[in-house]
Amino acid sequence: MFLTRLIYASQPSNSFKPEDIEKILVSARRNNAAKAVTGLLYFNQHYFLQCLEGSRSAVNEIYHKIIRDDRHQMPLILDYTETIERNFSTWGMAYLPETEVTRVLYAKFSGLTELSPYHMRGESCHKLMGDLRTAIPAV
Ligand SMILES: Cc1cc2nc3c(=O)[nH]c(=O)nc-3n(C[C@H](O)[C@H](O)[C@H](O)COP(=O)(O)O)c2cc1C
Repeated sequence: MFLTRLIYASQPSNSFKPEDIEKILVSARRNNAAKAVTGLLYFNQHYFLQCLEGSRSAVNEIYHKIIRDDRHQMPLILDYTETIERNFSTWGMAYLPETEVTRVLYAKFSGLTELSPYHMRGESCHKLMGDLRTAIPAV
C-alpha cells in the first residue's frame, strides 16, 4: 500500500469548545493507531494544522471523517503526496502558544511571524511541522 502524507488546515467553528480537545485526542489516538496512521495535530485559537501519514486508503478514510466534524470549518488540503518514509512515528497533538520560538519558525517558512497556514506552501507546512515537533513536543 502506498505510504502517503496529507496536511490540512482548518479553523475552529462556533461549536468547538475547549473540552473538545481531550475528546479529539482520545478518539484520534484510538482510531489512528487502529489504521497505522501517524502524524501531528497542532492548534491555536485560530487554526488546526494536522499531518496524517499512512496508507493511502487509511489517510483518506480518516481525513474524510475529520472534515465532516462540525467542530471545525474551512478545511483546506495544503499537501498531499506519496512518500517513501514517515516523519512522525506516533500520533500526537499539542497547543501552539505564541512565543519567540514559534514566531521565528513561522518567519522561517512563511512571510509572517504568525501562523497563517492557508497562505503557506504545502512543503513549507510539512517542514514547519517537523521543526515544531522538536520545539513543542506533542502528547
Ligand atoms: C481538528 C480535528 C482533528 C481530528 N483528528 C482526528 C484524527 O486524526 N483521527 C480521528 O479518528 N478523529 C479525529 N478527529 C475527530 C473526528 O472528527 C471524529 O469525531 C472521531 O474520529 C469520531 O471517532 P469515533 O467514530 O471513534 O467516535 C478530529 C476532529 C477535529 C475537529
